[in-house]
Amino acid sequence: MNIEEAEGEGEAAEYFCKDFEWEELRSEVESNPSLRHHFEPNPSSSTQSPESDVHAWKLFHTRHSSGKFFKERRYLLKEFPVLLSSPPNSYPNKLLEVGCGNGSTILPILRANKDVIVYACDCSDETLHKATDIINANDVASSFKHRFHTFSCDFSTIGFPTWLACNPCRHRFLDVKEDNGLHLKNSCLSEELDCCVGGVDYVTLIFTLSAVPLERMPRSIKECFTVLKPGGMVLFRDYGLYDMTMLRFEPDKRVGFREYMRSDGTRSYFFCLNTVRDLFLGAGFIELELDYCCVKSVNRRKGKSMQRVWVHGKFQKPALS
Ligand SMILES: C[S@@+](CC[C@H](N)C(=O)[O-])C[C@H]1O[C@@H](n2cnc3c(N)ncnc32)[C@H](O)[C@@H]1O
Repeated sequence: MNIEEAEGEGEAAEYFCKDFEWEELRSEVESNPSLRHHFEPNPSSSTQSPESDVHAWKLFHTRHSSGKFFKERRYLLKEFPVLLSSPPNSYPNKLLEVGCGNGSTILPILRANKDVIVYACDCSDETLHKATDIINANDVASSFKHRFHTFSCDFSTIGFPTWLACNPCRHRFLDVKEDNGLHLKNSCLSEELDCCVGGVDYVTLIFTLSAVPLERMPRSIKECFTVLKPGGMVLFRDYGLYDMTMLRFEPDKRVGFREYMRSDGTRSYFFCLNTVRDLFLGAGFIELELDYCCVKSVNRRKGKSMQRVWVHGKFQKPALS
């Protein structure tokens, strides 16, 4: 994986939206014979076990433990202005960042909204430690440490711990952090089901769903639905179909329809709007925003212009009537 891919959208630190039309890029790509291998019938699936997928990400974070890929995603505050305010009747405002990596998404949110409490998870303990170090190093007013909590989980197979949707259990989790509070999942289910009616206000899913195999995406989105309060939202951003990084993959890296595996075993899926729509609506969400974000960015080092495509989405869990 190179830096551009690891940062997701490193160069687009500013707020851009439509430097070119996605439909124009589509016809250009689909009529280019040298790109035909991207549309050939599906390669025989080289699915890895869920453990291998997670292991590949753990190794990735071990190799990149310097935190060199850390780059604050400040533009998210412009893309999702809801992050700057608290929903009415919800104080504090609770946010779950799924697949937090080194904390690129979390830090600008903690800085910009002092009413937010962030729960951040990842399948790699190493990156959770790194994210904690980075957040602590930037905690100039000593306020982040009370508003930032991490836990380890593979949300595509095991899902989120039940305490996340439950206020009393969440407080107990904060007292017994050694095992990430996962043992509370059982006690919560067996003894305190009635108290688990809380939930988070926002889930951020930023360049994380593309790392999950396509067949496990429906379950992953359902997990996000379950952990949200009624009326809560998923803020989604990820790789879009025909993004430059997709077109650069060699034929042997294809492992499924629009699905690729890098040499290090980490995956990347490239989303069209309909796939995203089907996943979220299929889990029970209402679509609020969904579009391509098409950005021409210049790699100053190589002097090359690159057409980047991301998908921006905002989906809401229906409110109680
Ligand atoms: C491209 S990074 C995105 C990091 C972060 N969201 C950001 O905005 O920079 C994808 C992250 O998802 C994590 N991840 C991949 N599969 C996961 C899974 N099944 N459960 C939890 N985290 C996962 C990886 O370890 C990695 O940190």
